[in-house]
Amino acid sequence: GTGKFDAKKLEIHRSVSKNVPKEIPPFGTVATDHMLEIDFKGGEWQTPMIRAVEDLKIHPLAKVLHYCPVIIEGLKAFRGIDGQIRIFRGDASMSRMLASAKRAALPEFCPTQLEEMIVDLVRVDKEWIPLNEGTALYIRPLMAGLGVTRSKEAKLVVVCSPVGSYLTSGALKLYANPAHSRVAPDSAGAFKMGCNYAPTIALTDEAAAHGCAQSLWLWGEKQLITEAGTSNLFLFWKDKLGELELITPPTQGGLILPGITRDSILTLAREWAEFKVTERFPTMSELMEAAKEGRILEVFCSGTASVVMPCDRIVYKQKPYEDPVEMSVPCQADGESLYKKLHEAITGIQYGKIDRPEWTRIV
Ligand code: COI
Repeated sequence: GTGKFDAKKLEIHRSVSKNVPKEIPPFGTVATDHMLEIDFKGGEWQTPMIRAVEDLKIHPLAKVLHYCPVIIEGLKAFRGIDGQIRIFRGDASMSRMLASAKRAALPEFCPTQLEEMIVDLVRVDKEWIPLNEGTALYIRPLMAGLGVTRSKEAKLVVVCSPVGSYLTSGALKLYANPAHSRVAPDSAGAFKMGCNYAPTIALTDEAAAHGCAQSLWLWGEKQLITEAGTSNLFLFWKDKLGELELITPPTQGGLILPGITRDSILTLAREWAEFKVTERFPTMSELMEAAKEGRILEVFCSGTASVVMPCDRIVYKQKPYEDPVEMSVPCQADGESLYKKLHEAITGIQYGKIDRPEWTRIV
């Protein structure tokens, strides 16, 4: 049951503070002082605790080490220009985590109570939230199934790390190989499960060998364009009739992770009503044709870690036994561009320059 899964039952055991690093460390490498830990034992949630970050002790027969019942989330807390701390769309993250828990056959929990406990954790470690724009506290909830056989054991942990801008270079070069897919339809690709990430790492090495930072994940004979790296993908172009259109793949069908930044982009773009907004899968042949006809305006990626990142080139391995051909996708990085406008709108909300209370929770 979820009886003890209650923010009012939270125990806070403060530890001696480590020194907050002066430089922003590489993404997800340095943890703050405290973590939230909630154990699930004998079919019951145990008392939630905020305590010092420590190594976890895991039995070698724990299921997570064998069959990968692990789910993750990613959300951020920002120090605003007004000095206030805001968590961006924590409610959306918590409901997605509950959906992932159900899909991974992990124990269910109360999403609003977990959000409250994350707020407490951020308060305890608030001096770790970096100051400058482009930086944030990355909050990483995870739940792992620990049971040795059929026992009902799991551990829910929330760990945080200070992060800078994910953008290392100006724009992303993507590697499209039709033999590489991120997930299969109606598998678990729509859920934030660890098992979706592990198989992509070796494939990303192949992308790197072609000078690309990320893979452009394709699916099926039609070579549907699905996602890029660990991000959702957007295509801004002129359709065949010359009308401006923003396209992103749909979440129905299980090929796409329902990104919260993706959803924010769709919401904002529909509110602006300046161009058509369509959820469908573009194909590689459509992209090639549009590139030839000069109809592509921008390709960009979105994610919690990266916010919005432009893509300037796609290396396309058209045939398995042929050399890849490099295809250039303009991203308009220097002039007016949609990705910049979206980036400004989203970060504006995150850093408290634009008021959008339904998307921000003041800590
Ligand atoms: C994100 O937070 O944007 C993610 O997709 C998680 C990660 C692999 C960086």
